Amino acid sequence: MKRAVILFSVLVLLFVGAAEAQQQFKGQKRMNGYSLEQFGNFTKDWKLVTVRYRHDSNEMRFTFANDAAWKTLAAGKTDYPDGAVFAKMGFITEEDPAFPSSAVPSGARRYQLMVKDSKKHAETDGWGYALFGADGLTTDEDPVIKTQACHACHAIVPERGYVFSKPMQLAMPADIKADAKVDEILGARLVYETVDVASLPERLKNLVPAQFKQVRMLQGALRKHLFAGTLDEIRPALILEVNASKLPALLLAEDGSMYSLVYPDPAATACKAKSGAAGVTYKAHHTVGEGMQGDRIIDYCQAQ
Ligand code: HEC
Repeated sequence: MKRAVILFSVLVLLFVGAAEAQQQFKGQKRMNGYSLEQFGNFTKDWKLVTVRYRHDSNEMRFTFANDAAWKTLAAGKTDYPDGAVFAKMGFITEEDPAFPSSAVPSGARRYQLMVKDSKKHAETDGWGYALFGADGLTTDEDPVIKTQACHACHAIVPERGYVFSKPMQLAMPADIKADAKVDEILGARLVYETVDVASLPERLKNLVPAQFKQVRMLQGALRKHLFAGTLDEIRPALILEVNASKLPALLLAEDGSMYSLVYPDPAATACKAKSGAAGVTYKAHHTVGEGMQGDRIIDYCQAQ
């Protein structure tokens, strides 16, 4: 009996300890030694590199570069000097009530930094990563796991110095040079294997529609090093794989704790909702919430 009580107390302590550790990660000013404020008003003083919009998450993204980062990027080089910094901010957008077909930013959602210091961040090819929420403070995941997850994806483009963005082309059409798009690179670099649905964890087996007996499963470092943010970032690449293979595409954490799954779903209403836009419809699932126990479902419409 005594033993049981001791065991129970130890378990309670472990549980409380884990919850406290999570709390410690959240709400800090710094990640990997970097804070947002230390770079001053980057939206005003740095160069706006490019803009991106994610249809599925209604997120607008702006990427900025400080002088050192911009000089290298603009020269088409990849040897970023120590002190080069990229900052990316993501806004949620919502319909403008005065003009519903137009989306307006409705508040900052998150900030991401990449800071070059080849000695300090030798393990992640010289880049230090940081992620902050709308309040400018850290989110609740372990910074070590987040850092590995950031780099697992940025490591896909070593020939770009681990930087995905290219300066947006605001030049006249004749000056614009064709350039491989990020999504195409992701599509070409990622390695998938075909696996039987029967071999997947129970939770996923039930999500894949019965007509599919196999799925294309993403391999490599992204399965080992991922955090909640990866599940969202990877979706456009999974959709490319669905288009190429006509099978569901899946990123499943090696330890089974998280997934991002996409499959074609002709019955999905996303394209109809977009005022009858012609497009291909998909359904996407990914884990969310406490302990990744939840399943978020997204109807996705890719315009044709
Ligand atoms: C699954 C892939 C993926 C993961 C994981 C990921 N990124 Fe990125 N990141 C991208 C892509 C693709 C872009 C360019 C397109 C865009 O901005 O949406 C990008 C752009 C950036 C940029 C602008 C400079 C550049 O490379 O274009 C920064 C800064 C950045 N990410 C930081 C981070 C941080 C910090 C993390 C981890 C918390 C992270 N990223 C995780 C794919 C990823």
